[in-house]
Amino acid sequence: MLKPCVILLTLLLCAFPATAQESQAPAQAKTPSSSTIPAEAAHQPNPVKPTPESLAQGKKYYGYDCAMCHGNNGDGKGEVAVSEKFKLGDFSDPATLKGKTDGELFYIIKNGQGQMPPEGDRVKPTELWNMVNYIRSLSNKKSQ
Ligand code: HEC
Repeated sequence: MLKPCVILLTLLLCAFPATAQESQAPAQAKTPSSSTIPAEAAHQPNPVKPTPESLAQGKKYYGYDCAMCHGNNGDGKGEVAVSEKFKLGDFSDPATLKGKTDGELFYIIKNGQGQMPPEGDRVKPTELWNMVNYIRSLSNKKSQ
């Protein structure tokens, strides 16, 4: 009588870790995570020079689409970010974007990341690069 119980218990114990792993796997966000940026996108060179015109355009779009979360000066304390309790990096701190290429920033802005919504095809690539230039310039101002 004891033997079938032992076998059953062993089976159960073996089965549990497996199911626990399976249920974790599909838990993925709708937008890509930072680890999913393709290498060719990350290494894509920025074709737009950070001219005053580019920065002015970037600032305009940033004001419409980004400042609500990332804050007017990039400090990550926009209204929506505060109410949603997002933990955002401070773009005015040079360390925040230092480790990222322009290509990665372009990819994140276009495709979204985690809880950040994608710009998608709403804006032209040039305008996305203008925003990349603009958010980079937010930390330049501080270090100058
Ligand atoms: C609804 C709020 C929201 C809006 C609007 C938003 N973001 Fe974000 N952003 C986030 C969140 C949340 C993250 C962190 C995502 C993660 O890694 O989980 C993020 C991350 C980023 C990052 C990566 C920073 C890092 O340190 O890794 C960049 C760059 C960025 N956002 C730029 C922008 C730009 C440019 C816009 C406007 C086109 C924008 N965001 C609009 C919420 C937002």
